[in-house]
This record gives sequence, structure tokens and C-alpha cells, in this order.
Amino acid sequence: MNSGLKLWQRAKKVMPGGNGLLSKRPERYAPDIWPTYYSRAKGVEIWDLDGNKYIDMAQMGIGSAILGYSDDDVDDAVKEAIDCGVNATLNAPEECYLAEKLLELNPFAGGVKFARTGGEAMAIAVRIARASSGRSKVAFSGYHGWSDWYLAANISGENNLSDHLLPGLKPKGVPTGLAETVFPFQYNNLDELKKIVSAHDIGAIVIEGARYDFPTKEFLIGIKNIAKEKNIVLVVDEITSGWRMTNGGIYKLLDYIPDIVVYGKAMGNGYAISAIVGTKEVMDEANETFISSTFWTERLGFVAALKTIEKLEKENVYEHLIKIGDMIGGGWRDLAAKHNLKLHVTDFKPLITFKLEYGEKNQALSTLFTQEMLKRGYLAAGSVYVSFAHKPEIIKEYLRNVDEVFEFMSKAIKNDNIKDCLETSIREDSFKRLT
Ligand SMILES: Cc1ncc(COP(=O)(O)O)c(C=O)c1O
Repeated sequence: MNSGLKLWQRAKKVMPGGNGLLSKRPERYAPDIWPTYYSRAKGVEIWDLDGNKYIDMAQMGIGSAILGYSDDDVDDAVKEAIDCGVNATLNAPEECYLAEKLLELNPFAGGVKFARTGGEAMAIAVRIARASSGRSKVAFSGYHGWSDWYLAANISGENNLSDHLLPGLKPKGVPTGLAETVFPFQYNNLDELKKIVSAHDIGAIVIEGARYDFPTKEFLIGIKNIAKEKNIVLVVDEITSGWRMTNGGIYKLLDYIPDIVVYGKAMGNGYAISAIVGTKEVMDEANETFISSTFWTERLGFVAALKTIEKLEKENVYEHLIKIGDMIGGGWRDLAAKHNLKLHVTDFKPLITFKLEYGEKNQALSTLFTQEMLKRGYLAAGSVYVSFAHKPEIIKEYLRNVDEVFEFMSKAIKNDNIKDCLETSIREDSFKRLT
């Protein structure tokens, strides 16, 4: 057992689930061989506790390291801020500078609130949306974090959220009084949304900017019309999609204007910062409801975000992410065709993803992919959060390795011996199996 997995055994004894984020649990990758912990990370390189170095062709800090790990410019700005004190009785001026910057990049907006995590920011956004519309029911699609308003969807049936990211999320501990306050609908399924809106007095519609697919024009126009007609606040969660295809949200590309847009993850290149950015009219409601927390004013998040955004703009980072995502996706497609492997590559290039098409064998096969890539020095799974540090030479070498691994997987499928090829138990997605 590697040192990371040994530590993971200890962690599970002292923390329920082992850590604070499902996406970093080894059970989601290759449970008995995944390095699990890192000692250092720089650019796209990451070192485990045994001194092994990997190239990260997987999650890049679960989407937070958009510029690459430990970006010098961001880290230098943060170190300077540390020397000046990170929390004081008086406010950090960077809070105001960052709000001004976000208003400049989101011209529809007239107000900003900050938080630290995505889930918190979404809880704030939903509170403000409910306050603004004066109605508490929410229609949503996609994943929006861990909070009560969202998990309430599973009170009336544990599988209501299964199609929105993770199957089997338990709503235990969420007040049962919240049942029937939130209603999920499928992305791009306008009819489903229309039914919800006609059956319930909806005050907010919440969608993701994009996940694997983009919203269709018809869907967006439909949502805008419904929102306008019924005076519903439209919240676009760009926590994952933001900064990856524009300097801001994907909504900018799709020719519509939300009432609130929410950013997180990549905005501080790994430092904790999230933002709720909305029209003046809607955001002014934040003064009518209590929203306040000590660490929402801590300095480093603002400093990191200002420097990250400066670099995103200066280097046209999103163009790089799209180009590299395209290179990876195209490479997967070509290699899959070469080895007669059935997979589908999704559309959102900066979070490029392949989905294997082997039904119940998918999990074993994708574990095999991770296992064989680990042997070749890569943290790899079916999705890559592309970063500015992923340069074309790195991708070429990665694809050379994928070529070998796809060939190996293809043979295992043909010989019907995928499980025999595995040196680890099989990965899991289900929440039930991860806890
Ligand atoms: C679209 C979206 N919303 C909200 C969240 C929750 O963010 P956090 O994990 O920072 O709480 C995530 C996290 O993956 C996300 O992808």
C-alpha cells in the first residue's frame, strides 16, 4: 500500500468520509492504488507522499487551478498580502477592487457579494433570489453544492438528484419541511421546466452555465421568457463553467443575460473565493436579509482573484483552454477509432470528458484506464480540467500514452478479461458507496 493510502486509512478513522470533498476520495479513481495525497504541486506536476511525480491530466484541484498549480504571479501577490496581514478590524481594500472588476466584466450587473466556497455562494444566491421574487420555490438543473436548499430535492425521493451529478445523495438531516420546495429539471428540457412552473409558484430558476453540454438557444430563450413572464429570478451557476470560455461566464457567449451569475473554483487559482454578481435591483435585496461571515472578508481570496483575473485577461487563457481541450478530445476520438473503442467525447472543451459506452463494464474499464495511466506517470480519468499550464507538448506525450492504454483496454474488452487486468478494486461514483 502506498503512503497516501496508508494515510487515507488513518483519515477515515478521524474524519467521516476521510476528507471534506467527495471528488478527492481515492474510491472515485482506482481505490487500492491511487496516490491520494500530495506533498507538492507546480504547473501540471504533482508529487505524492512517496516522492513519485505525476502529470495531472485529471482534475487540477477539482477545477480550481486554471492557471496551473502554484502560479508564481498569484502566489507572489498572496505572499505579499500575507506580510501585510490577512484579517484585521478594518476591511481589505481588495474586496472593493475585486467587486469593481467583476462589475466591469459583467456589465449587466450592479452588485456583488463574496463568499469562499461554491456551495456557500449558491446558498447566498438562492437566498437573494427568493428575497427578490418574494417566493421560495426553486426550479433547477445541475449540481449546486451541499446545502439544504439543494438537497431538499431528494426528500421526496432519493433519486431526484441522480441525473444532476451524483447518484444517491442522502438528504438526511435536511429539514423535511423543505420537501417540495425545489424541483429538478433536465438541462435543455424546456417542457419539463414549463410543467414545473405551471404546477408550482416558482421564485427562482437555477441552471449551470454549461456542464458537459451547452444550453440550446431555444432552451435559453424559453427560460428567459418564462422568467420574465412570471417575474422569476434567473440564477446562472458558473462555478464550474466560468472563466473557461470567456473572461467571466459562458452566458456571455450565449447571448442572454441572467439576473445573478455565480463564480467560484477557478477565480482564485486555488485560493478560496467565490462571488455572487447580479443586477442592482436583485442584489439590493441582500440588504433586506442577513448575510454575513467573518472569513468572507479575509484578504487572500480577493488578492488571489484579482491577480488570477488579471492574468486570465492578459494571456487570453480561455482561448488556450479551448484549444488544448480540443486537442485532447480530438486525440481521444482518433485513438478510440484506431483501437475500436466505443466512447463519446462531450462538447465543453475546457472540461473535456469522454464517456465510455460499455454499460455495466464502464466503471471497471475506466478504473483500468486510471490504473494504466498511473503506471505511466499520469493522474488520469475520463475528464480533464484543462489549465494554462497544459502545453501542447504535454498533451502530445499524454496522447502517446493514451494510445498504449486504449490498445490495452481494447484487448481486455475483446478477451472479456477486464477484471483480470485490474490490480485494484473498481471505482465508484455513487454517494452511498463512497461513504
Ligand atoms: C456548478 C457547481 N456549483 C456548485 C458547486 C459547489 O462548489 P464547492 O464545491 O466549492 O462548494 C460546484 C462544485 O463542483 C459546481 O460544479
